[in-house]
Amino acid sequence: MTLTLDGVQAGYGDVRVLHDVSLELAAGTIVGLLGRNGAGKTTTLHTIMGLVRARAGRITLDGRELHRMPPHDIPKAGVGYVPQGRRLFPYLTVEENLRIGLLVRGAGADTLAPVLDLFPVLHERMKQRAGTLSGGEQQMLAMARALCTRPAFLLMDEPTEGLMPTLVARLLETIVELRARGVGVLLVEQKVDAVLRIADRVTLIENGRTVRHATPAELAAEPEVLLRHVGVRR
Ligand SMILES: Nc1ncnc2c1ncn2[C@@H]1O[C@H](COP(=O)(O)OP(=O)(O)OP(=O)(O)O)[C@@H](O)[C@H]1O
Ligand SMILES: [Mg+2]
Repeated sequence: MTLTLDGVQAGYGDVRVLHDVSLELAAGTIVGLLGRNGAGKTTTLHTIMGLVRARAGRITLDGRELHRMPPHDIPKAGVGYVPQGRRLFPYLTVEENLRIGLLVRGAGADTLAPVLDLFPVLHERMKQRAGTLSGGEQQMLAMARALCTRPAFLLMDEPTEGLMPTLVARLLETIVELRARGVGVLLVEQKVDAVLRIADRVTLIENGRTVRHATPAELAAEPEVLLRHVGVRR
């Protein structure tokens, strides 16, 4: 199974943000999407999820045209989304937040159990309100909720933002474990080193255009590429 973007253009109102975005995400792989602030990373994820309409180009999942589907059908087609800033329901408990994820696919306890195996800390906090969790726990909950839709592909927008280093490491391990379970992960991250460590492939985006697809090893051998397109020196 592969999620493919081909020549995608999209924007907000009259403002064109994505001019030409193409990428491929295979099941059981991690693709890092890197670019400067404002390059269009979040907009790319919004467009895959149907929250922003693609004005040109194609987004397909094994031949199914996601860009023609209404937004509520995209999680059902197997694409999960962990938004930037998490977007939990703060006054609902951990358990209630997870139930909302389960509802999307009409799933039950058999879906929840393997998800909670990944996040033992949530097990102990099922009755606690989401808004009172620590930042790291909220990130785990956002990820767990997305996994309750049993996605074949998971889009993650800066999941390590605001986490302390030990939690960053835990989160990266969890992403690697998802890959081992066959999930394809599209990872938007500011922490370039973390992406280069765990990703199978990296796509660079600049001013709404994908400008380069490479392996982490290729990028490590060409440090000037990251400096030019992402603005980081390694
Ligand atoms: N709702 C909106 N309406 C109008 N313009 C928007 C909207 N959301 C984003 N933009 C613009 O689209 C461009 C790309 O934004 P986007 O959020 O996709 O960037 P990003 O790569 O995720 O950046 P960051 O690393 O800062 O999160 C920016 O110029 C931004 O101002
Ligand atoms: Mg963003």
